[in-house]
Amino acid sequence: MSVGIDIGRSGVKIVSGEKRLPIFPAVACLARPIDEPEEAVRAVAQTCEFGGRKWFWGETAEIHGQAQPGNDPGFEMTDGYAVILQAAIGQARLAGMALGRVALGVPSEAGAIVRESVAQRISAILPGTAARVVAQPAGVLATVAAQRPEVLQQTVAIIDVGRYSTDVAISVRGRPVAGSLFSLPGVRGAVDVLTGALRQRLPGTISFETIEVALRESFVVHRMQRVNVAKEARQAREHLTAIVDQAVARIQTLQPDVEALILAGGGVDLLDSGILPPHMRAPGGRYAVADGLSRIAARL
Ligand SMILES: Nc1ncnc2c1ncn2[C@@H]1O[C@H](COP(=O)(O)OP(=O)(O)OP(=O)(O)O)[C@@H](O)[C@H]1O
Ligand SMILES: [Mg+2]
Repeated sequence: MSVGIDIGRSGVKIVSGEKRLPIFPAVACLARPIDEPEEAVRAVAQTCEFGGRKWFWGETAEIHGQAQPGNDPGFEMTDGYAVILQAAIGQARLAGMALGRVALGVPSEAGAIVRESVAQRISAILPGTAARVVAQPAGVLATVAAQRPEVLQQTVAIIDVGRYSTDVAISVRGRPVAGSLFSLPGVRGAVDVLTGALRQRLPGTISFETIEVALRESFVVHRMQRVNVAKEARQAREHLTAIVDQAVARIQTLQPDVEALILAGGGVDLLDSGILPPHMRAPGGRYAVADGLSRIAARL
């Protein structure tokens, strides 16, 4: 058996065949003392050691470290990423997943240096494991191809709308076209727009997560009051649709003969799909990349 690990900016998805682990937040921070005994025990389950220091990861990092999701480029090269990767492998092992073959995804824009660094980190944690690092849209394609093998004979474009990036790839007969991998901002682009739009109305700092929820729900809790932000949220969602539209335009310039458009990622629900060209949605929701990575790993 083999494992696919998709470390996204919002959450880590781990899949082995049919088995999917619960998504945990992709955050890590240095551990801190916890006095409350029951909570201290709970935190141990999400503590690991890296670089000679103890780190919290997942919900524990979110709660006790008030860790915010990484918004910076180069996430894959940080200590936090190394901790999250170690935690993900630990969770897979704990769930009894066989780790002989592992595939991991990185954003489309990540170059050879990033991929090599991620591959080395896997080898350091799992010596002897066959590991492969691919662009995240490759995972989406593998997922779709399992249901519709004809996509591997066609020219298709994949757009994965994640929290950090909207990752794009064009595939001709199952092969990624050189120069076709690019990334645009993901949901965070819309979060930035909504944050800006609310600055006047709701002074003070509102967290990334709060704004992200508001994008979807059109409400925000500000100074303990529930405020309707439907108009601003709609405009911010339109901004995300415009980013995807921009991706579509670029795809058409790069490869005018694209036959099918595949959308994936947790950000897809926020789009006004009426504005976009005809498309199909990858099965598996937020697990679409990890499902495909698990299939890619199985072939190693
Ligand atoms: N339960 C949830 N928790 C967090 N985000 C959610 C949830 N449900 C939907 N979302 C939305 O899905 C988006 C994240 O989608 P996804 O899981 O595809 O991103 P990611 O893979 O973590 O990010 P990236 O691929 O950019 O690194 C969030 O930005 C959020 O708007
Ligand atoms: Mg993703």
